[in-house]
Amino acid sequence: MRTLGIGVERNEVKVLILDTAEAAIDRSAGILLDAVRQKPTAVLGLATGATMLPLYDKLIARHLAEGISFAQVTTFNLDEYIGLAPDHVCAYHHYMRKALFDRIDIDMRCTHLPRGDAPDPVAEAEAYEQRIAAAGGIDLQLLGIGRNGHIGFNEPTSSLASRTRIKTLTDDTRRANAPYFDSLDDTPRFAITIGLGTILASKACLMVATGAAKAQAVAMMVEGSISSACPATALQMHPQVTVVLDRAAATDLTLVNYYEHVHPKGAGSEYG
Ligand code: GLP
Repeated sequence: MRTLGIGVERNEVKVLILDTAEAAIDRSAGILLDAVRQKPTAVLGLATGATMLPLYDKLIARHLAEGISFAQVTTFNLDEYIGLAPDHVCAYHHYMRKALFDRIDIDMRCTHLPRGDAPDPVAEAEAYEQRIAAAGGIDLQLLGIGRNGHIGFNEPTSSLASRTRIKTLTDDTRRANAPYFDSLDDTPRFAITIGLGTILASKACLMVATGAAKAQAVAMMVEGSISSACPATALQMHPQVTVVLDRAAATDLTLVNYYEHVHPKGAGSEYG
């Protein structure tokens, strides 16, 4: 059986459906760890959000248990809120340190997020895109999905060719993220996000979605027409995307039987 790791050309969106969120998270952690095992100097694209917290916990547990080192890994996060300094409790910088970086053997100098408090956010966005290119591009991009189909902070109407830039957040996204802030009014209106074009330039993508709230966005992403109205559909143009779902997030997919036939219980198939 071939692995689902980086560097394996597949030319399809691979949909792996697991019975529970826990199993989906474990499967996703396995794919990330395989990538690091295969290439200890991997450049990982990382994501934030509630979905990723149990995934990072699992990654840390297995990193410790299986002795897989992140010492040579480089990371680039998808996005950061404009206006928040790295030590702000709601900044993605802060999230990443607490959720992952402080708990593994990664070299902090090799971890990257856009600076939300940069004096010139436009220049910061351009420099971030160049830093990704200078690192040789992203080997494996981890992604969650917003309820409106955004990835990173690429909100609807993002160009499918977009690169790292500033995006205005939609009301829906601000409301979804408001519980982390004191109020909706305190929730940032802008973010720096890597673009859909930046994501499509990565060598492989791993999308993880759990829970019924994501079912509609997941169905659009996997089976809908490619459109900037649902930015995640851009991933259909990427040659190596794996989507890991729990059963609740898979509810609105039309071809569930097919995905389960090809990948019973989320296993790899004979041809990857
Ligand atoms: C934010 C992040 C996205 C993430 C999304 C969903 O908008 N910028 O990268 O995918 O939230 O997050 P959650 O997992 O909390 O639903």
